[in-house]
Amino acid sequence: MTERRRFLITGGSQGIGAALVTAAARHGDVVFTGRNDALIAEVARGSGAHGLRADVSIPDDNARTVEHCQKMMGGVDVLINNAGFGYYAEIGALDVEMMKNLFATNVFGLVDLSNRLVPLMKTQGHGDIVNLASTSGMKGNKTGTAYGASKWAIRGISQVWQAELRPFGIRVVCVCPSEVQTHWMGRTGRNNPNKLYAQDIADTIMAGLNMPRRVLWPELAVFANNPWKEE
Ligand SMILES: NC(=O)c1ccc[n+]([C@@H]2O[C@H](COP(=O)([O-])OP(=O)(O)OC[C@H]3O[C@@H](n4cnc5c(N)ncnc54)[C@H](OP(=O)(O)O)[C@@H]3O)[C@@H](O)[C@H]2O)c1
Repeated sequence: MTERRRFLITGGSQGIGAALVTAAARHGDVVFTGRNDALIAEVARGSGAHGLRADVSIPDDNARTVEHCQKMMGGVDVLINNAGFGYYAEIGALDVEMMKNLFATNVFGLVDLSNRLVPLMKTQGHGDIVNLASTSGMKGNKTGTAYGASKWAIRGISQVWQAELRPFGIRVVCVCPSEVQTHWMGRTGRNNPNKLYAQDIADTIMAGLNMPRRVLWPELAVFANNPWKEE
């Protein structure tokens, strides 16, 4: 990455977010959020980035996050909306309150934080917003009513923001990873060298951000090339 940029990364305390924080900190100033103090401190120590305890589903926390970015970095060039979690149940056995909670983070949190930052990006005359969706938002799968719908929503929202924000020099990129071996849903310990790691998604996003500013990459599905390979 050529010029130094100011990043805000949500959900940077572990998984894909933590890999993004470490990669971004090599190229600029980084503020990241999460909810687990111990994990936030560990990522901050390892990367030199600035960690902030903030829950993206809470509007006051998002207001505080934006204030913090203004104070620490004087603005934000790159917002990466990564925070998210999964809840899976078949229709007929769905806890709708759980689905609402999931949407509060995965969808409304992403919208609320972006809604607060876009006016600042418009004033700057540039900016990048990277939204983490999923291949679960590209094809309906069993038990995906809540999670899959939240990721379909992010893809649709990303298209709307592209239509709205391209004239302001703001790029919106929607990234749809397939399975990534993180701590997702407590599935710690996966280590198949043929499947995706958090680092792969971070590297792909950083490569996308490094494209010439004339170029818009609206959506990118990311798969492991040969996850079936036997070692
Ligand atoms: N892993 C996959 O297979 C996969 C595939 C496609 C897409 N994705 C997407 O990629 C993103 C990251 O997933 P991951 O696998 O890295 O998950 P992960 O290892 O479970 O990490 C999720 C991160 O999000 C944070 N987070 C969750 N809810 C939050 C909230 N309300 N406010 C602030 N931070 C919050 C967590 O912070 P705390 O732990 O501190 O609360 C954590 O840092 C998600 O949007 C997910 O949907 C993942």
